[in-house]
Amino acid sequence: MKKLLVTGGAGFIGSEFVRQGVKKGYKTALVDKLTYAGDMARIKEIEREITFYNTDITDKKSIEDIFKKEKPDAVVHWAAESHVDRSILDASPFLDTNVRGTHVLLDVAKNCGVGTFINISTDEVYGELKEEGQFYETTPLNPSSPYSVSKASADMLGRAYYRTYGVPVITVRPSNNYGHWQYPEKLIPVTILKAMNNESIPVYGTGQNIREWLFVSDCADAVFKILEKGIIGEIYNIGSREEKRNIEVVKTILRLLKKSEDLIEFTKDRPGHDYRYSLNSDKIKEQIGWKAETSFLEGIEKTVKWYIENTLWASSRLAYPSKY
Ligand SMILES: NC(=O)c1ccc[n+]([C@@H]2O[C@H](COP(=O)([O-])OP(=O)(O)OC[C@H]3O[C@@H](n4cnc5c(N)ncnc54)[C@H](O)[C@@H]3O)[C@@H](O)[C@H]2O)c1
Repeated sequence: MKKLLVTGGAGFIGSEFVRQGVKKGYKTALVDKLTYAGDMARIKEIEREITFYNTDITDKKSIEDIFKKEKPDAVVHWAAESHVDRSILDASPFLDTNVRGTHVLLDVAKNCGVGTFINISTDEVYGELKEEGQFYETTPLNPSSPYSVSKASADMLGRAYYRTYGVPVITVRPSNNYGHWQYPEKLIPVTILKAMNNESIPVYGTGQNIREWLFVSDCADAVFKILEKGIIGEIYNIGSREEKRNIEVVKTILRLLKKSEDLIEFTKDRPGHDYRYSLNSDKIKEQIGWKAETSFLEGIEKTVKWYIENTLWASSRLAYPSKY
């Protein structure tokens, strides 16, 4: 069984990936700086089955030591600063972690050798769509926010390291994830927690922006399939075909919690807010045989239930809205 070195595995999606990996029998070494977004509570149940390094990916010497000690077959690189709003307030940590940190990992992978390097990118690197169209893996990158620019840089660095040095990089671009353990600064957990407390729910602009919502377990599953069957040097979009307007998402949550829509409070729009993302995910379906299993309704019901059962964890971390 392959040995994995997973970065950002104490984060929202990375922890789901690590939990699934342990169940599948993968040996896992996890590197995480434990920023405000990282939390060992997410991996408590499997903590004893992994090796944890509380390390910053920008620390090249430590990353080299970990590679030499662990000799991973594959790197799965989730670690990032991930919140667009925070990148608008201050881009510096995004450039440090997402660009420089990815560069360190690629460089160490080049020097120490690794079988596969999964570079986790995002649909946001493509920029925005209007009502029509989809993003293909071949669509040119046109990122809008400091976050998506930092991710596009990391995405391109990965492809440059494949082309220039032959580092075995596979680039993965998932759409908007949601589900259990998401840090409550993002739309869905913020809405659930505010609604549960009968507090007003901030919605940017008129709430018409569209995102393609991917359940976190489906995203982690797709990355395992890519790890097993993906072609080195390729790019894979991971989408769900579940496009929803923000306002629809909020109203669905209110309906599930039996709360009034009067709680909705439209706020000043996010600067540079992308209107719509939509991924064409034919390639992963045809080459790898993966498609999302969880419908939006099923996923959002599970998510609401999880936050009701884990209110203590979630409400102690509620961190919205940020001020521009
Ligand atoms: N959440 C989404 O909807 C989404 C969609 C597409 C792609 N992605 C990408 O997936 C990845 C994971 O996203 P997420 O939502 O789970 O993020 P997250 O913010 O929940 O977790 C990020 C993790 O990275 C760690 N980290 C941050 N800086 C670090 C550093 N310098 N060194 C080591 N560890 C560091 C944090 O402690 C945290 O555990 C990111 O690369 C993100 O860009 C996320």
